[in-house]
Amino acid sequence: MITPSHRLQRLPEGVFQDLAIAKGQRLAAGDDVIDLSVGSPDFAPPVHAMAELAKYAADPSQYGYAITALPAFQQAVAEFYQRYDVSLDPQREVLQLAGSQEGLSHLALTFINPGDLVLIPDPGYPIYEAGVRLAGGDIMAIPVDPVTLHPRLDDLSVQDLQRAKLMILNYPSNPTAGLATRAMFEHVVRLAQEYDIFIVHDFAYSELIYDGNEAISILSIPGAKDVAIEFNSLSKTYNLAGARIAYAVGNPTALDCLRKLKSHMDFGVFLPIQRAAITALHEPWDGYERQRIAYAKRRDAFCHALADMGWEVRKPAATMFVWAKTPDDEQSYPFALDLLRATGVGVTPGIAFGPHGEGYVRMAFVHETDVLLEAARRIGEWLKRR
Ligand SMILES: Cc1ncc(COP(=O)(O)O)c(C=O)c1O
Repeated sequence: MITPSHRLQRLPEGVFQDLAIAKGQRLAAGDDVIDLSVGSPDFAPPVHAMAELAKYAADPSQYGYAITALPAFQQAVAEFYQRYDVSLDPQREVLQLAGSQEGLSHLALTFINPGDLVLIPDPGYPIYEAGVRLAGGDIMAIPVDPVTLHPRLDDLSVQDLQRAKLMILNYPSNPTAGLATRAMFEHVVRLAQEYDIFIVHDFAYSELIYDGNEAISILSIPGAKDVAIEFNSLSKTYNLAGARIAYAVGNPTALDCLRKLKSHMDFGVFLPIQRAAITALHEPWDGYERQRIAYAKRRDAFCHALADMGWEVRKPAATMFVWAKTPDDEQSYPFALDLLRATGVGVTPGIAFGPHGEGYVRMAFVHETDVLLEAARRIGEWLKRR
């Protein structure tokens, strides 16, 4: 008999089966789909990074196991992090990952024993919970305030804080597009010091911040390196999502633990991808600002078009996501399913990100403006005729 482990059984089922089926049915019927449900960037990677990848991919000597990061990668990350006012020792304080999803999925296995308590934001990016479940840890969801988009840390009791071993945060945030403030991070670092909590900050959207807002690395907070690590990725900054390369930075002892686990799990990132990543991180590039401007323009056009259609949504200050309350406080999953079936516009139900995501949907502006305007038009017409 083939039976899954108890560990696997602790993972939620693929609850979005119906959405996938509805999308497949529309496509099979020859109807188009505008998919706003996946946060995969549609902009091009830096040309110099693609050229480096192509050059090394043509070199037969580059096909062996990489095992570890090229030292130039760690060096390039350390240099890149100066933009966040963080200085890093490239060897001890930078760990390469095959995507931050990989690192985040191995995080709890590295640090959490069955019964250990982990604090995660609700709504929050799903791998935080899945990773803890795989490790047998206990989860306490910290509700995210719908106005500030910060976790309600004051709701945690002293007992919760004393029991917590790990806290995961994510700013700019997926799905809410919330931004951190220095005061909030300082508070988190103080809690970590007082209650001996290990902090993990996911900074995957560090470069997708608009309207002059500041990207804050938690490691720029005094004392943070004693208690925290930060994950960052080349997926969104350089549009290298499919290349699977990222890194964790910060507390060297924590990174050593993760490195040890990883040494049993993988043999490193394909060398030509490492070379492309080094080039991306290292070379001057006008794409950081260009991309911010392009995303912000799309965001403005999409949000205005939705408002014109009668659906007022909050304009995100960061990320590639609009996090919108469903028009009549409807449940997010039936709303997303009806919308997809009726219009071919795919959105992610907020419930996918935790119970406090209920009543919201997430829409990724990863298409050209004319496609987003068409999506808004279809949504608007559907809302009117329902
Ligand atoms: C908040 C957040 N963290 C991590 C990831 C995973 O990124 P990567 O491509 O580096 O695995 C994503 C991907 O969408 C994300 O939204």
